[in-house]
Amino acid sequence: MTEQLFARSPEIRAAHPLFNENKLKLGVFGINWSGVAFVQSPARLVPRWKDSLEVARLADGMGFEAIVPVSRWVGLVPGKPRDASAQNLESFTWASAVCVSTRQAGVFATCPIHAYHPMLAAKQAATIDQISGGRFGLNIVAGWNPTEAGLFGHTILDHDARYRRASEWVEIVQKVWTSEEEFDHEGEFWTIHDAYTVPLPAQEPGPPIMNAGGSGQGRDFAARHADMAFVSLRTDELEEAAAMVDDYRTYAREHYGRELGVWSHGYVVHSETDEEAQRKADELYANGDFEAVDAMMAGLVKTHSAGVDDENFQTVRRNIVLGSSGFPLIGSTETIADRLQFLSRAGIDGVLVTWLDYPNGLRHFRQEILPILEERGLRAPYDAGDGA
Ligand SMILES: Cc1cc2nc3c(=O)[nH]c(=O)nc-3n(C[C@H](O)[C@H](O)[C@H](O)COP(=O)(O)O)c2cc1C
Repeated sequence: MTEQLFARSPEIRAAHPLFNENKLKLGVFGINWSGVAFVQSPARLVPRWKDSLEVARLADGMGFEAIVPVSRWVGLVPGKPRDASAQNLESFTWASAVCVSTRQAGVFATCPIHAYHPMLAAKQAATIDQISGGRFGLNIVAGWNPTEAGLFGHTILDHDARYRRASEWVEIVQKVWTSEEEFDHEGEFWTIHDAYTVPLPAQEPGPPIMNAGGSGQGRDFAARHADMAFVSLRTDELEEAAAMVDDYRTYAREHYGRELGVWSHGYVVHSETDEEAQRKADELYANGDFEAVDAMMAGLVKTHSAGVDDENFQTVRRNIVLGSSGFPLIGSTETIADRLQFLSRAGIDGVLVTWLDYPNGLRHFRQEILPILEERGLRAPYDAGDGA
């Protein structure tokens, strides 16, 4: 009975921007944090609300499909708990404010499972989905940072157990989102009595799920539970990239009979020419915040969470400094458009983009790059209706 009081339908879910017709979807990533580019520069984002909101509104007004925050509870550098890598706004409360301040984009909260009890996450997600009229989405993080997990009395388990726990977590959340009646849950990691929430989310059966796990177990988790998986492409060979993307999709189809959206993330360093852009990237790298980056790499290696070895150490380190390990989108306007088209040709459905200087980067993207993507049939022109 209560459900009639609150919006809820599969049609609301189908209207989520994530499922629109654009061949290459776009998102902006990490704008509640100062850490996506680990570069010591005045252009680096300080996530004061007005600055974070400015970027969210710019992306929303350009028709971007996704606005995805990070979730960080501790800084990365031991002994320096207040350094830039610790500065971030909590992702659910931030998402709730962003969704009422934007018009069309999908707004995500990023949710490490050690930080949010599944009942809390389910209720917060349902609430934001109601507030936003069905524009919410959940980025589930299984965890990799032992210090952060320790803050909540958890440890980072080995990969099998880590994703078993994440699976149990998301199964509880999704059951809460779809249950008309109270239920009990007795699992390996949680015991819950009389679980339910009113209202349920506006999207039926629930908001889209994203997962960016990099391991085989992470891929299996995404194939089983997520609408969007993330693949880190470390190649410029189209065939190799296409095979990697195809692997994800085929795996989800064959193992779980599911259609999985495959996304990637990339960082932009733009200049007039490719040579100048590469020089700019070199300069930014020279000003890298290596204390934070090396601490992050150490954490990832310790929890076996990144494919870092001696051979690719410098490349991975550079990509972390310039854009949290994203795919490099370095070059002239034309080259950046070509690189995005490359990702689309490889089968990528969407890209979360980052910049060191988000506001100017997004304005340039709107003026110069979006028209090229539209011309190439990768996106339909978006009319924000305000003459922008
Ligand atoms: C686009 C993207 C966003 C991510 N956001 C976060 C985040 O906000 N917080 C976090 O702790 N980890 C984040 N991660 C890390 C992943 O969720 C995952 O824990 C990590 O890649 C290790 O994967 P694995 O456990 O499968 O080895 C992100 C990764 C990517 C690629």
